[in-house]
Amino acid sequence: MPETLITPASVAGAAYLVAALAFILSLAGLSRHETARRGVGYGIAGMAIALAATVWVTVLDGWGEPGAPLGLLLLVVTVLVGGAIGLWRARRVEMTGMPQLIALLHSFVGLAAVLVGWNGALAEPELEGALRDIHHAEVFIGVFIGAVTFTGSIVAFLKLSARMKSAPLVLPGKNVMNLGALVAFVVLTVWYVITPDLWLLVLVTALALALGWHLVASIGGGDMPVVVSMLNSYSGWAAAAAGFLLDNDLLIVTGALVGSSGAYLSYIMCKAMNRSFISVIAGGFGIEAPSKGDEDLGEHREIQATDAAELLVNASSVVITPGYGMAVAQAQYPVAELTQKLRERGIEVRFGIHPVAGRLPGHMNVLLAEAKVPYDIVEEMDEINDDLAGTSVVLVIGANDTVNPAAAEDPGSPIAGMPVLRVWEADNVIVFKRSMASGYAGVPNPLFFRDNAQMLFGDAKERVEDILKAL
Ligand code: TAP
Repeated sequence: MPETLITPASVAGAAYLVAALAFILSLAGLSRHETARRGVGYGIAGMAIALAATVWVTVLDGWGEPGAPLGLLLLVVTVLVGGAIGLWRARRVEMTGMPQLIALLHSFVGLAAVLVGWNGALAEPELEGALRDIHHAEVFIGVFIGAVTFTGSIVAFLKLSARMKSAPLVLPGKNVMNLGALVAFVVLTVWYVITPDLWLLVLVTALALALGWHLVASIGGGDMPVVVSMLNSYSGWAAAAAGFLLDNDLLIVTGALVGSSGAYLSYIMCKAMNRSFISVIAGGFGIEAPSKGDEDLGEHREIQATDAAELLVNASSVVITPGYGMAVAQAQYPVAELTQKLRERGIEVRFGIHPVAGRLPGHMNVLLAEAKVPYDIVEEMDEINDDLAGTSVVLVIGANDTVNPAAAEDPGSPIAGMPVLRVWEADNVIVFKRSMASGYAGVPNPLFFRDNAQMLFGDAKERVEDILKAL
């Protein structure tokens, strides 16, 4: 090969290809928990290669130009500061705080895409004809997707961290507003391609910021998991748009990988929760204001830990359905110990995991694996639902929405149609929680008032430890 073909750009191109392959292997690894650790390793390796190649090609290409050393210094400082903050946050974050951290990180991708777009408009490259038009369209689309992702992710962060109410915002004519914003975007894009005036970019930025805020604010708490994965997808498309502007192939490939895998995950989650994909991505399109749900549900019964222990030792089969509260209480360790004790007495114990139990996909599986609960007794909702009718005792540990019979029985409920664990079909149900409060979706739960259900109030970890003592 002639020596002249080996340029900094061609070497970086090759490195990008390796990094893109590492990202694909990473996604493949992350799809199963046995290989997830390897998947993360590929991701880290890919990102390290990508960063090194980008710094290298940027420095070599521009070396000799005035300001190049300052540019390099800024790049190194930025990478170090960003890396340090990322490392600090990742080490400190609790599992229960993960979804809001992810939402916040998506907002950074959105903001970066907006800044790259604006930079592309201000530092207008010398282009002619169709290339110039394409550049303007890229700027406009990149800024739009980025700004929607930015404010949408901030609202998701505020909702997930309970800084904002999780109930959907229902403005009059909200669907018309969303649709109007999309039509305005298309018209403005054409206009900007023809006459690239800066005020049009200001307008589309403001429009997209408002649209992102409104889209996510209009979605209720129960659909939040889908929203987080949808914003993940948007952040991917925003990154891909930035890749076109920066002429960076790796960013385009990575953005497309994140965009399409996020969209597919949202679709799978919508199917699992029996929600309409279109309705969720269109900001709750077709979802009416939920009914108040203040009807009288009757009296609930209470049980103490000693009586619960008694019920458990006399059971032949036990199913544990954990939820967000188990994560908050960090009750997985005593729960694992209880499981072991009951199994030693010859009682069959299994776990039933709802696909959106907790605050992020796989949340419960990770906690149970951490506490060394054997994989083979941890079953998915669909695998265990039909067996619940023949189960002696179900322990609902810090779960609420995921075991709400209203989803199956009340067509007027905001979570109507969402598949749930049919725990109420068991002989006995013990619900571990601290109060009669509703779950994340803000919907009252008639399970607590069923004849076969009893409430065991208090912190889930303490109550399970009390049962262990009583055993
Ligand atoms: P939730 O419906 O949120 O209910 C959790 C329950 O745990 C609460 O009712 C709470 O009641 C109780 N709790 C909290 N701290 C506790 C503690 N220390 N000890 C004992 N109980 C405690 O949880 P879920 O059943 O797991 O359902 C998940 C919900 O989150 C769904 O609505 C889902 O759509 C949403 N969501 C899921 C995700 C993903 S991807 N998984 C992401 C975002 C949102 P008290 O306050 O009375 O104790």
